[in-house]
Amino acid sequence: MSSKVFVSRRIPARGLDKVLAATDAEVWQEELPPPYEVLIEKVQAADGLLCLLTDRIDARLMDAGPGLKVISNFAVGYDNIDIPAATERGIPVGNTPGVLTETTADFAWALLMAAARRVADGDRYTREGRWKTWGPTLLLGQDVHGATLGIIGLGRIGQAVARRAQGFGMRILYHDIQRNEEAEAVLGAEYVNLDTLLQESDFVTVHTWLSDDTYHLISDREFDLMRETAILINDARGPIVDPDALHRALSQGKIAYAALDVTEPEPIPIDHPLLALENILITPHIASASFETRGLMASMAADNLLAGLAGERLPNCVNPEVYDRG
Ligand code: DGY
Repeated sequence: MSSKVFVSRRIPARGLDKVLAATDAEVWQEELPPPYEVLIEKVQAADGLLCLLTDRIDARLMDAGPGLKVISNFAVGYDNIDIPAATERGIPVGNTPGVLTETTADFAWALLMAAARRVADGDRYTREGRWKTWGPTLLLGQDVHGATLGIIGLGRIGQAVARRAQGFGMRILYHDIQRNEEAEAVLGAEYVNLDTLLQESDFVTVHTWLSDDTYHLISDREFDLMRETAILINDARGPIVDPDALHRALSQGKIAYAALDVTEPEPIPIDHPLLALENILITPHIASASFETRGLMASMAADNLLAGLAGERLPNCVNPEVYDRG
């Protein structure tokens, strides 16, 4: 008898087809995620769950599905899942690292370039019929080449962002909980403390995990340290940046501009004060959204799910401790 699984949204065929071929799968068809109580109901009879970063997977949910053998997240980040609770219950959790690194770094650069050279402002200006002539001081922005880039979190994506910065002749600073001298040598990056990074960077880009330690890592004190001309980029997780402090920083001219692909909350409500500002650009969490990458993520998420159902080690497991429990 094939395993019962719940897939909490339609994912690209490259992964979904494998799941449909090998299991008795129910796939949530709506555009919006299943409400939490619905998810609770769906896991009751499930052997496996393939979920998204929009699903809260906590201890109560895991206890509602006593047969759950595996939780496979369609994302590299897994802050939506209570990992210690999964480990305690012996449930392996899978994620999709690696395949989205370059695509997410490309997008950080799209945000950086768009913010520096006011691409979204220019588009708005044109569509609003305000383009009357060529203007010597029209929509002036900041140079990217030769500027200083501060990378918070020099993991896979942070390093991919740094590689691109080399081509722009940038000075590259980074801060991380762990110094990486090998990466420094390859990338020509300089390790500094967070305050120095904030003080010296023209562009500050966030590429760290969301955890208790990084929640609101960038708040009023940090904005006070930044340059008035600085641009903040975040395509990691919204809550790493305190949105009220960001609003104060942008409206009081403590920094020049922010370009975000992630927000707190998500989605950002249309009447949120940040959306009333001119010097911000916000996209709807699409940094990994290329056809190829989302297909690869789907495929990896399916492989993790199917391995877990077969009682095999997940190809990408975030809590391998489950296998040491004997
Ligand atoms: C992730 O994978 O964690 C991204 O935020 C979505 O691709």
